[in-house]
Amino acid sequence: MTKAKLSLDGKDYEFPVLVGSEDEVGIDFTTLRKTTGAISLDPGYGNTGSCTSTITFINGEKGILQYRGYPIEEVAASASFEEVCFLLIYGHLPSVDELATFHDKLIHHSMIHEAMKDFFQDFPPTAHPMMVLSAMVASLSAYYTRGAVDEDVDLNIIRLLAKVKTIAAFSYKKSIGQPFIYPRNDLSYTKDFLHMMFAVPSEPYLPSDVRDRAHNLLLILHADHEQNCSTSTVRMVGSSQSNLFASVSSGVSALWGPLHGGANQKVIEMLEQIRDDGGDYEKYVRMAKDPDSPFRLMGFGHRVYKNFDPRATILKEAAADVLAELGTTDPLLEIAKNLERIALEDPYFVDRKLYPNVDFYSGILYRAMGIPTEMFTVMFALGRLPGWIAQWKEGREDPKAKISRPRQIYLGATQRPFVPLEERAAKKATKAEEPELVPA
Ligand code: CMC
Repeated sequence: MTKAKLSLDGKDYEFPVLVGSEDEVGIDFTTLRKTTGAISLDPGYGNTGSCTSTITFINGEKGILQYRGYPIEEVAASASFEEVCFLLIYGHLPSVDELATFHDKLIHHSMIHEAMKDFFQDFPPTAHPMMVLSAMVASLSAYYTRGAVDEDVDLNIIRLLAKVKTIAAFSYKKSIGQPFIYPRNDLSYTKDFLHMMFAVPSEPYLPSDVRDRAHNLLLILHADHEQNCSTSTVRMVGSSQSNLFASVSSGVSALWGPLHGGANQKVIEMLEQIRDDGGDYEKYVRMAKDPDSPFRLMGFGHRVYKNFDPRATILKEAAADVLAELGTTDPLLEIAKNLERIALEDPYFVDRKLYPNVDFYSGILYRAMGIPTEMFTVMFALGRLPGWIAQWKEGREDPKAKISRPRQIYLGATQRPFVPLEERAAKKATKAEEPELVPA
């Protein structure tokens, strides 16, 4: 299969076909407009490849996710989050020495400029931590780049990875009115974050191994997911040669939305609502199926996974294990399981291939770790950071990369004469007198 044929207005055109290393097929339409005068229309980009990539492979039909070729199940079972960061960003598993050097660099760049601490004070106490994170990541450009361009991309990659966990923890401390806790150089990335979240000046905090393992797992499972909404945003902003911090800050904003990373917060809010409403989950399944209701089962469905989300499968088991190890029960887990069981048997969900996604169980785990609900999407962002960086770097280093600039099909008014304000006032024009909108 080397060419694809297209007939348009009685003329035949041929386009090259690109086959990926896992046999996925793409028709290369780079010359479509030049040769045919037409564009491809694909709102939501469900069928559009925006780039080639060597970072992450997903097969949504078979429920496969691989980072640089390594299956997510194997990575999640034995890697540390720092190893996964290195793997995604630099393309290979680190040697012992490479990992030690990487860790050393991360701990030595984890403080933020003291002046940046003042920024936190000016946000209202009700500010959502995702808003604070986005603003603070963009603000790093003020300290670590000159203008729009990165002076030192490699160093800024380390700075971003190292400082975001400090910023994320500070945004939480700010939201509860506690003093900031500085990073510690003797802790792993994951332990240091939980230390900054939960320690107070009068009492240190070190997470138990169970909590640390759960945190590590959550970050790894979120680390990359190829061209999703936030990652495409990061690549798109980066394509204009905006600096790393500005590009990733846009990704944070994209992730915040409830249809993307914001869903993990919404899942818990939905489960709490069901609990407070007497636990009648069937009522909520009915609402989700009702075409006249905007309600959706949060944590269900995925643009790419049409079989199961392998991350959800891992997290479902982990949530049960962690709760058992911590000796706590969570009534929301029972509601979640019942919701999942009913939804998986119901033809509405089965026909539309709507399965639990990563956000469905991650919230239960975050709760067990003591993470407040408003911080869930920040936790997702912390995990997704290496993916955003790796994808931004790949876009930047691609010699064929161009600025991202999609086209559109215009359906507005056809050309009409502009009527100056004075003339409109004089005529006291009403809407009915205006030239009619003629769809093109
Ligand atoms: N509950 C009820 N119905 C749903 C749901 C849901 N969660 N998701 C999709 N549908 C229905 C939808 O109404 C439509 O039905 P119909 O064909 O009758 O119009 C059909 O399923 C297809 O939906 P779609 O909106 O065209 O699917 P999409 O691929 O554009 O959207 C999605 C994917 C994830 C945005 C969507 O499934 C959704 O809104 N889910 C809830 C939010 C959520 O959990 N988001 C987290 C995604 S995973 C984390 C991440 O990577 O960001």
